[in-house]
Amino acid sequence: MKIMVCGKGGTGKSSLTVLVARALSKDHKVYVIDSDESNTLLPNILDAEPPKAIVEYLGGKGTIFEKGEVNITKALAKAGEGIRLDELPSEYSSSSPEGIRLLTIGKVREFGEGCACPFNFLLRTLLKNLNLINGEVVLVDTDAGIEHLGRGVEEGCDAVLAVADPTAESLELAKILEEHVVKMGKSFWLVVNKVTPDIGDIINRKAKEMGLEVLGTLRFDEKMFKSCLEGVRLEAEEGYKDVETILKRASLM
Ligand SMILES: Nc1ncnc2c1ncn2[C@@H]1O[C@H](COP(=O)(O)OP(=O)(O)OP(=O)(O)O)[C@@H](O)[C@H]1O
Ligand SMILES: [Mg+2]
Repeated sequence: MKIMVCGKGGTGKSSLTVLVARALSKDHKVYVIDSDESNTLLPNILDAEPPKAIVEYLGGKGTIFEKGEVNITKALAKAGEGIRLDELPSEYSSSSPEGIRLLTIGKVREFGEGCACPFNFLLRTLLKNLNLINGEVVLVDTDAGIEHLGRGVEEGCDAVLAVADPTAESLELAKILEEHVVKMGKSFWLVVNKVTPDIGDIINRKAKEMGLEVLGTLRFDEKMFKSCLEGVRLEAEEGYKDVETILKRASLM
């Protein structure tokens, strides 16, 4: 199962990716792919070392379009078997204490380095040509917004887990995502994050007005907030319980 975690900036995509990965890692081999070309918090909150970027394995960002899908797949896969993430050299992934493997596509670091399009192309190619076995799960923590949608990255996944926070704007973005994702024949789940007790009803009303189905909500959890502020392993009490409930509703647990 290949799941992309998407949504507006700052809604909690990376945090939710970590909690979902932890919950699913109890019964599955879980890979997390960091596809955010600028943010660097994910390894810290997952509690894994930052691995070398896959784009470097392929010779750098500048070579990606030139290589194209066929050559990228050839470079990453054994003949005819599709891409197995565990066959990449060890420095291109790291592990959390739970055994969750972390991989990263690449980061924009230099001024004037150009756009992130090669990263999206690489991610799309990777997802489309992955060979998953024995119920393995791949979770992709995406960058903010929907640029990846414009690049067709979602074509390679099975499902999109959209994260909204309690703002009209982020629900609107989730609606756009839903329309495209459902059209592609993929599963779509929406989670509203950072919900405080007084606003549950407003969210349900807004979502209904917009024709959005909310799979579940994730409470505002002060422990989560503090661990992201410190840049350390994500601690979550209430938040983790909410994620388990959400995953059960999506029949993922
Ligand atoms: N349930 C929650 N309770 C409290 N704080 C939360 C919760 N979820 C996320 N946060 C906080 O919201 C902020 C953004 O979270 P996170 O980095 O996971 O979002 P993101 O969508 O990945 O952001 P970006 O778009 O920048 O990648 C962080 O300060 C994080 O601690
Ligand atoms: Mg993030």
